[in-house]
Amino acid sequence: MNNVVLEAKNIQKSFTDGKTTVNVIRDLSLQVMQGEFVSIVGSSGSGKSTLLHVLGGLERPNEGMVFLNGQRFDSLGEAERGFQRNEHLGFVYQFHHLLPEFTALENIAMPLMLRKGADFKKVKERAEYLLERVGLSHRMTHQPGELSGGERQRVALARALVTQPKVMLADEPTGNLDRKTAISIFELLSDLRNEFNMSMLIVTHDEQLAKSANRILHMQDGVWV
Ligand SMILES: Nc1ncnc2c1ncn2[C@@H]1O[C@H](COP(=O)(O)OP(=O)(O)OP(=O)(O)O)[C@@H](O)[C@H]1O
Ligand SMILES: [Mg+2]
Repeated sequence: MNNVVLEAKNIQKSFTDGKTTVNVIRDLSLQVMQGEFVSIVGSSGSGKSTLLHVLGGLERPNEGMVFLNGQRFDSLGEAERGFQRNEHLGFVYQFHHLLPEFTALENIAMPLMLRKGADFKKVKERAEYLLERVGLSHRMTHQPGELSGGERQRVALARALVTQPKVMLADEPTGNLDRKTAISIFELLSDLRNEFNMSMLIVTHDEQLAKSANRILHMQDGVWV
């Protein structure tokens, strides 16, 4: 199937701080197909995280449009965008953003718990399954402050995957991991991609991860090169 699940058309994003404006994304378009794995590489400050935030509906572009499942996404109101994100997207932030007061299991379960009519027992089972898949069953009741950097990253991955998203957007998902754990995370991602026909858009400095993608995009100063 050649369905486009996520599309960006002529995105521009700038940040204005008093008198100075920084044009971070200058003119970017992108199509991600169902089941496709795309990696984005580029030097620090080139705009990769900013692009991911725009694609994930966490920030609005100044110009251009984002479509999720063929529907306009960027122009939706906050609540509807939040709903669409919860239904269809899994997001792994560059710096985790786990909730410090909650356990690993609760953090993973959170996106499902936020859904209307959530069945607590089923949610718990699903979160436990993901926790096991990222190799952290023995850390179920630990809070993020009691986990190592790599363990926090794996919890963040499990949280992004718990809803079985159509598209996963991940910013350096293996950045803090040793080779062996990074490989097991790639394997998990690729299994889940096959299992659910999930698309993945991954920002990475890891050449091995980048090369295993269907397509590699290179970003520099807010444009593809
Ligand atoms: N909220 C903001 N306000 C002002 N400038 C910003 C903001 N967010 C990002 N920038 C600027 O945009 C540029 C791109 O940032 P971004 O985080 O997208 O880079 P990146 O490619 O993800 O880099 P890295 O590989 O280091 O994570 C940087 O120069 C940064 O200073
Ligand atoms: Mg970044």
